[in-house]
Amino acid sequence: MAYTAMLMFHFVVRLTIVTLVPRSFRLLEELERGEKGIGDGTVSYGMDDADDVYMQSWTGTIIGPPNTVHEGRIYQLKLFCGKDYPDNPPNVRFQTRINMSCVNLETGVVEPNRFPMLSNWKRECTMEDILIQLKKEMMSPQNRKLSQPPDGNEDARLEKGIVIRCCIL
Ligand SMILES: *[C@@H]1O[C@H](CO)[C@@H](O)[C@H](O)[C@H]1NC(C)=O
Repeated sequence: MAYTAMLMFHFVVRLTIVTLVPRSFRLLEELERGEKGIGDGTVSYGMDDADDVYMQSWTGTIIGPPNTVHEGRIYQLKLFCGKDYPDNPPNVRFQTRINMSCVNLETGVVEPNRFPMLSNWKRECTMEDILIQLKKEMMSPQNRKLSQPPDGNEDARLEKGIVIRCCIL
């Protein structure tokens, strides 16, 4: 009986290691990278809740690229990494209102069928890659001049205050 229980225990532990470690390992790497800061700082991301052991919910920020209608705007996005990440892409949704070809105007969801990085997802792709690609999309000829909804939302305005304060510090 005890032996069976022990076998079961080993089985469960093995299963847990085999299925969870690659995902959490990968997300820990991304967390570390996000905390260090990416490139010129126009794209950033971090985990929403440090206590979330599944590391599911993330917030990304894109500073609107210059010489586009997005200049001077700060876009906030939610990225949700399901249990099957990174085998499957995260769900990505703009919190800040944006008019952009790959984004559902009502919900802010980045539509995978209009954003190839999500529909042709590769395991090596990261949240950083998604944010950088979305920033590139903002600069594309089809998006750089689209008329935009009135500036952002409450959250975005709040964030802007924080970002500006950080820059001054
Ligand atoms: C989004 O852009 C299109 C094309 O310029 C425009 O017709 C539409 O009114 C814009 N929508 C909003 C909410 O600004």
